[in-house]
Amino acid sequence: MQKRRLLASAALAVTALGCGAASLTRTAGAAESPKQAPADNRRIAVVYFTKTGNTKSLAEAVRHMTGAALFRIETVEPYPESYGPATEIVKDELERGVIRPIRPLVFNPADYDVVVLATPTWWHHAAMPLQTWIRSVDLSSKKILTANTHGGGGLMHTREDFEALLAGRRLGTHLTVYGAVNPQDANVRSWLEENGCL
Ligand SMILES: Cc1cc2nc3c(=O)[nH]c(=O)nc-3n(C[C@H](O)[C@H](O)[C@H](O)COP(=O)(O)O)c2cc1C
Repeated sequence: MQKRRLLASAALAVTALGCGAASLTRTAGAAESPKQAPADNRRIAVVYFTKTGNTKSLAEAVRHMTGAALFRIETVEPYPESYGPATEIVKDELERGVIRPIRPLVFNPADYDVVVLATPTWWHHAAMPLQTWIRSVDLSSKKILTANTHGGGGLMHTREDFEALLAGRRLGTHLTVYGAVNPQDANVRSWLEENGCL
């Protein structure tokens, strides 16, 4: 039932946003000025959360194209494997404002010029474990690209979440991906190019 409700709301959002299956959108605002450092001077990190592997595939595509270092956020207590119970638990945590602790990440911001943040869409939002990590780190002076993968809902509120968490930071454009991508995905490549990472 939960899953059906979720898919229904996702389908509504698809209609509203005009996002079809396998589509990819970029948000309108927040693009940086075209003056970019040469791509080969940029040290890139991808920090991502994934539960079922779609966002991991996006992180891996970025690594494949740019040589980026990957950092995976994990919760101390994992969410259930199966979709139904996971969605119910996440919904309950969202409603009650529960912060599920994440494992410490060995990440030194000074080592990177560009940080790519990638999240699944969870109940229309950026997944909380990634949000928790963002709150814990100082990304000032970094260029930050953001991305969400989704199950049919498209962008939803994910970019807004990033913008709220990263107010005043240097944001590049946002990439929205339905499901998983392959390592040569053309839309991922274009997104990296438009942000000076390739
Ligand atoms: C708890 C939960 C909530 C979800 N909520 C949404 C949603 O609101 N809209 C949507 O399009 N997809 C939703 N999905 C589907 C995921 O966003 C989508 O499958 C995503 O690509 C999964 O990424 P991952 O494989 O990296 O975990 C949800 C999935 C889960 C587990």
